[in-house]
Amino acid sequence: MMNEDNRAANEGSGNSEDRAVIIRTLDLAKIYGEGEAATHALQGVDSIIYRGELIAVMGPSGSGKSTFFNMIGALDSPTKGRILLDEVDVAQLSAVELAFLRCRKIGYIFQSFNLIRYMTALENVMVPMSFAGVSS
Ligand SMILES: Nc1ncnc2c1ncn2[C@@H]1O[C@H](COP(=O)(O)OP(=O)(O)OP(=O)(O)O)[C@@H](O)[C@H]1O
Ligand SMILES: [Mg+2]
Repeated sequence: MMNEDNRAANEGSGNSEDRAVIIRTLDLAKIYGEGEAATHALQGVDSIIYRGELIAVMGPSGSGKSTFFNMIGALDSPTKGRILLDEVDVAQLSAVELAFLRCRKIGYIFQSFNLIRYMTALENVMVPMSFAGVSS
């Protein structure tokens, strides 16, 4: 994770001390599998992302970028550590609150297209809008 570099790179857009924190991770860890087959995809990631910041997470294939995004997007849960979105601990949220969060606060563009084949491009874009209750 490259947060300290981000601080420097984003200084031009305002003093980060004054801005709201939208994502915070504390000692975040993710282990896939068990025993000899265990993969330590994330090992104690501490990060802070401020509102309005543009962040790029870089690293070689298999370094844990998608795992990190799955965690902060509330799509998967960590083995250890905490994730705070708008200073709310995601682990404290109910299934309904998590669904609201995913619907209203998080947008995802996946590595592969993940489009629904029988829908047009426009209809694909509109799918999350219908979940969010946006009327036609
Ligand atoms: N569902 C899973 N089960 C077991 N291991 C997994 C799973 N998902 C990811 N991994 C492993 O965790 C590690 C991190 O994978 P991850 O997909 O987060 O990397 P990445 O940085 O996104 O890679 P890429 O640049 O190829 O997308 C890798 O060793 C990967 O094989
Ligand atoms: Mg990936």
